[in-house]
Amino acid sequence: MRVLGIETSCDETGVAVYDQRQGLLSHALYSQVALHARYGGVVPELASRDHIRKLVPLINESLAEAGLEPGDIDGVAYTAGPGLIGALLVGAAVGRSLAWAWGRPAVGIHHMEGHLLAPMLEASAPTMPFVALLVSGGHTMLVEVSGLGRYRILGETLDDAAGEAFDKTAKLLGLPYPGGPELARLAESGDPGRFDFPRPMLRRPGLDFSFSGLKTAVMLTVRHLDLDDGLRADVAAAFQAAVVDTLAAKCRRAMAQTGAPTLVVAGGVGANRALRERLDSLAGEADWDVFYPRPEFCTDNGAMIAYAGMLRLSGGERAGLSIDARARWSLDELRPPGEKEKRKSTH
Ligand code: KG4
Ligand code: ZN
Repeated sequence: MRVLGIETSCDETGVAVYDQRQGLLSHALYSQVALHARYGGVVPELASRDHIRKLVPLINESLAEAGLEPGDIDGVAYTAGPGLIGALLVGAAVGRSLAWAWGRPAVGIHHMEGHLLAPMLEASAPTMPFVALLVSGGHTMLVEVSGLGRYRILGETLDDAAGEAFDKTAKLLGLPYPGGPELARLAESGDPGRFDFPRPMLRRPGLDFSFSGLKTAVMLTVRHLDLDDGLRADVAAAFQAAVVDTLAAKCRRAMAQTGAPTLVVAGGVGANRALRERLDSLAGEADWDVFYPRPEFCTDNGAMIAYAGMLRLSGGERAGLSIDARARWSLDELRPPGEKEKRKSTH
């Protein structure tokens, strides 16, 4: 089965073709970073309009790169939520309509399911069961994955997501949008020992996260500083160290609690080098393995949606004829293909 995947939940337009036997045949990505940069964050209406402009050309590009005609596609998968509703509706409308016009089945994919399956696109792919640390701009959670659509949320953030904390702290430091990768780059040259920021929620039992206090601690520190480049790098390094310590400690706790043999890390913050180094060394000391997608598949992309779509379509799942998208959608509502989903939220 060969599936066209479409991702438009936020500020990247992603398209890919995944073949069940041959793997990834093509993928194309258009980032809206330049469009939103001067506003310091994503402007939802501009995001939707830009997806409308870029999606069909990207689909053509992806098909051409794979040397395929529409008739070679066996199914279409699109991100159906969670995310910005206008942006999601662009992908859902185009994906659903193309599938109908081509006489092929369609399936709506949960964006975070896409992220958690992304490491399986790699040559050295993890096998289930595993624990997934999902760290993106909108979500931070630990999930026990026992099969496709069998997800148990072990812990999640009570306030800001890890990526959001990176982005907000970057803004405090005067770094350009999108702040996370910029802050990570700056942290490389800083001294993490110069400031001692809190490691939130470490002393409490459980697997939930909280990052807003850390952001406030950085804000209060920065307020009394005359920031120069050196100090900025030190604040960035100390902030990153606090996030990495917190995420690593919770991962270790989750692995001990579940006894899972494998940890999978995905979502934009999963591209962070310091986080990967720490988790690699943790895994080296422990009796579990850790897997990541390549950095470009940590952040939003069409490949993870095409892959999740291939798994669900080949399991017999089919979207109805209506064009559906959901801004809010909890991962633990998902079920394996063929089993009816338990709906908690409808908007
Ligand atoms: O998964 P993603 O592309 O989009 C969402 O689904 O939210 O994640 C984007 C987030 C942003 O907050 C971005 O700042 C962060 O991931 N990010 C990073 C790095 N690369 C992206 N954070 C820390 N270090 C990085 N290298
Ligand atoms: Zn994402």
